[in-house]
Amino acid sequence: MCGIVGYTGHREAYPIIITGLKRLEYRGYDSTGVALLNNGLKVYKKKGRVADLEENIIGKDLHAHIGIGHTRWATHGEPSDRNAHPHQSASGKLAMIHNGIIENYAQIKKELENKGYHFTSDTDSEVLLNFIEDIQQNNECDLEEAVRVALKRVTGAYCILLIAEEDPNTIIAARKGSPLVIGVGKGEHFLGSDASPMLEYTKEVVYVNDYELAIVRPDELILKNLGNEKITPFITKLDMELAAIEKGGYEHFMLKEIFEQPSTIQDCLRGRLNAAAGTITMAGVENNIEQLKNANRIMIVACGTSWHAGLIAEYVIEELCRIPVEVEYASEFRYRNPIVNKGDVIIAISQSGETADTLVALERAKANGAFIFGVVNAVGSSIARLSHAGAYTHSGPEIGVASTKAFTGQLAVLNMMALKIAKAKGTITDEYYQQLLNELQDVPEKVASILKNTDELQRIAAKYKDAHDFLFLGRGYNFPIALEGALKLKEISYIHAEGYPAAEMKHGPIALVDENLPVVFVATKDSYHEKIVSNMQEIKARKGKVISIITEGDLVSPTISDDVFSIPPADELIAPLLSVIPLQLLSYYVGTLKGIDVDKPRNLAKSVTVE
Ligand code: F6R
Repeated sequence: MCGIVGYTGHREAYPIIITGLKRLEYRGYDSTGVALLNNGLKVYKKKGRVADLEENIIGKDLHAHIGIGHTRWATHGEPSDRNAHPHQSASGKLAMIHNGIIENYAQIKKELENKGYHFTSDTDSEVLLNFIEDIQQNNECDLEEAVRVALKRVTGAYCILLIAEEDPNTIIAARKGSPLVIGVGKGEHFLGSDASPMLEYTKEVVYVNDYELAIVRPDELILKNLGNEKITPFITKLDMELAAIEKGGYEHFMLKEIFEQPSTIQDCLRGRLNAAAGTITMAGVENNIEQLKNANRIMIVACGTSWHAGLIAEYVIEELCRIPVEVEYASEFRYRNPIVNKGDVIIAISQSGETADTLVALERAKANGAFIFGVVNAVGSSIARLSHAGAYTHSGPEIGVASTKAFTGQLAVLNMMALKIAKAKGTITDEYYQQLLNELQDVPEKVASILKNTDELQRIAAKYKDAHDFLFLGRGYNFPIALEGALKLKEISYIHAEGYPAAEMKHGPIALVDENLPVVFVATKDSYHEKIVSNMQEIKARKGKVISIITEGDLVSPTISDDVFSIPPADELIAPLLSVIPLQLLSYYVGTLKGIDVDKPRNLAKSVTVE
């Protein structure tokens, strides 16, 4: 996590850096800092958000044409002014920002302490910076060489930006495991954890790869590997507008992103799904159809909300394609020596494409010969580049920390993928294939109709916002939606919530039920409907409060429920794309009614680039 920004060129650096940091605050907001070079280094930093720093440095000298800035998600050392980045080296002549974790920092710190170094922060980053300075002084080499030597010694993940008084036009940058994008302008360069800080200045960017080092000057971008060999920078054209990363009149990014879903799902289907012609076009699937349809097993690797999308995909792929599927938490998969055989396919699901656990899990599986198919939102991200093939979700930048539109994009892609494989394999009837194509095509319109009717959800949110616990229950395709509803509520309202398969409730969680417990049933019409209605009765009999998400026209569930919200009918495979929408809104309304900054809930960051 952590967001980093850098600028060197003819413009004033500070406004570019501060605006960039605001756009990257989704990556962390424990502290903020900038370092500017103009007749010496000026470093300003503060615990808290970018706005706190801005307030704190009114009246200070901010004039400079080169600088770096950082917004922190704390790992080593509590959020505080002294642990904020940029850090300054012992001589005071170097300033550095870092995103990642230096795993062997303790050992290096000891070595430096034995040489007489003192540290002013608890961070691993300050250790790396002084290590670099120490190498430069001892080896009498230039800074670039010192960075190279230091990075060969460290283990862990990093994206670093360094500026030095001795070379006041140059930013030295390097990455391993944490993202870095360099924007190429005329007589200027921009650096960022993603492209958002540079959007209004350039559409030409270079995605820096692991183990690459960049020497960035206003007129020059030199890329090298750690062996000091030059690499030709590969320039990519950005297909993103500034409006995509602004709130556009909504109070929060999360609300904007929930309401964008009719168009983001449409964008995901566009050019791929043609229900009238009965076709799905997905180059990543078509080019690898033999591998996919003959897979002995599919393993889905993801975290959080993306993992929930993976669980639904498990049900859909097994049902339609008759291929065994396992869904793995990336953080478990990477450490437990999993058996990956030739003929297995790994589907990686990630909004950011930068989640450290997912990325490392994939690197290991790839090294063992696995075929990786990426379902990713962020174009050009590390997971997208690591995958052998893939399909973007085309949901646009997701900035609210709680994932919403990326999730429905993932479901749309995974459904299309499953349909395409099933068709090629002959495991789906022509009628059902066509029905699902038609239904997928109707999803954006149905989502739009759900979003027209939010008053009832606001009322339900107000009624239950003071509850201490929530239970979310669902069966079949709606079970992962129950998990997702519970996760959303937890992260942006701080209310304890658990998601469970509805039938599993009686094996334990039912003991929690009393008149104070709201239980949300995701109970749309499907092949399990009668069973879940019985589960509602079981909760009602124990005086629990039943809130049901049901299909329009269901006359039974409302008679058992305290509160209901109806959504349009859909085949059970497609229903999760609809049933998740009221749960996203419910958590949004509860969170905002409780006065929580739902775009930046405590302790969280959008892109989890640490283990
Ligand atoms: C929840 C949420 C997280 C992410 C998880 C994976 O709202 O956003 O649980 O889903 O951190 O992130 P990606 O999809 O970027 O790999």
